[in-house]
Amino acid sequence: MDKMLIQGGTPLEGEIRISGAKNAALPILAATLLSTTPHRLKNVPKLGDITTIKRLLEKIGATVSEEADHCVIQVQAIGNNEASYDWVKTMRATILVLGPLLARCGEAHVSLPGGCAIGARPIQLHLDGLEKMGAEIHIEHGMIHAKAAKLKGAPIYFEAPTVTGTENLMMAAALAEGTTILENAACEPEIVDLAHFLNRCGAQIMGAGTDKIVINGVSSLSGADYEIMPDRIEAGTFMLAGAITRGDLMLKRCNPADMGSIIEKLQATGSEVKIQKKSIRVIGKEIKAVDAKTLPYPGLPTDMQAQFMALMSVSDGLSVITETIFESRFNHCAELRRMGADIRLEGHHAVIKGVPHLSGAPVMASDLRASACLILAGLVAEGETEVLRIYHLDRGYEAIEEKLSQVGASIQRVKGSL
Ligand code: EPZ
Repeated sequence: MDKMLIQGGTPLEGEIRISGAKNAALPILAATLLSTTPHRLKNVPKLGDITTIKRLLEKIGATVSEEADHCVIQVQAIGNNEASYDWVKTMRATILVLGPLLARCGEAHVSLPGGCAIGARPIQLHLDGLEKMGAEIHIEHGMIHAKAAKLKGAPIYFEAPTVTGTENLMMAAALAEGTTILENAACEPEIVDLAHFLNRCGAQIMGAGTDKIVINGVSSLSGADYEIMPDRIEAGTFMLAGAITRGDLMLKRCNPADMGSIIEKLQATGSEVKIQKKSIRVIGKEIKAVDAKTLPYPGLPTDMQAQFMALMSVSDGLSVITETIFESRFNHCAELRRMGADIRLEGHHAVIKGVPHLSGAPVMASDLRASACLILAGLVAEGETEVLRIYHLDRGYEAIEEKLSQVGASIQRVKGSL
């Protein structure tokens, strides 16, 4: 397994180009199952999870070809409508093929995802919605077996907003008979990107980005050319890299309009943030202690919580970070403590007392955003930090060491270490 070696203490200065959004590309790639003609997708990030879903689509029956700045995907026929546990244990987002497969060929067999490092992560809301659309679903030996000769539009109320649940049902409803109304739907920008893609394929989806989405089913969808939105969590992570190293970073090809809560929170800590239409400049100054609470969009994203904790661990005072989305998303705290952070956990709250400096140490990544947190901590810690198990990092950050090295970080990947 690879590890990352970081020498901390250098203020980062320069430009970083933000990649396409992992959490928009995943549902959009799954949605290619809904059409028989070719799709040309641009700005698809080169990430572990993206490679995984492309391989899965090929196994299902897609042809995937990589061109210079886009990929061409076509699913002329479904050869295999099963996604076994091998796929799901590698990537939970495999569940996103359930809705499209059911809509496309009337039958799907997808492994039930287990829990993961950040929580139990049930998917019952996905299954309840599909049953309301007429699917027959039963679970046996850890597999979801779903059948529906033709899905029927239905009113669906989510007891809690679920991002991939909203996406799964939006895709299923696109080819259903009649109208589906998703109430208490998730509002994340990645859902809007999926709706834009589906509408370009000929779907009739209104209200994406609000908590009420109306989908009028159509008889078929065509292929489309589409450019994936920028990754707001990658951009937010690099914003904090500029802040924590007291540097001056310009992030290009990002979308500040998706990032209001992250921008506001960072400004509250004392960083200067300059916004243009497609770029954000962060000038790190003081790091004031501020409280933070993760919430569904447009609140502070849970996917920024670990990174923000790294910043608060070197703030000028006491802050409280509250995680309201996942029940065990504080795995990075113990590792930050190994670097000298002063953090106390009380249920869903982490109480952080800023320390003058962190000290470099060997630390273990436990999940995608926890690994990003440890990279940020290493950038500012005194001495060398070794981040182990960075396969977690590679699932969601494209060429992170190249991007950070270009702006002055002393970071290198050591291949194949234990
Ligand atoms: C998506 O996960 C993202 N993944 C996550 O990003 C992100 O953290 C999460 O949304 C929240 O924003 C992708 O988009 C691929 P949820 P998802 O369903 O859809 C509960 C990353 O780092 N829930 O919105 O799985 C659930 O337990 C990843 O890129 C149910 O109770 O999240 C959680 O507490 C990590 N029953 C809450 O809802 C259900 O049927 C939000 O989960 C579904 C969800």
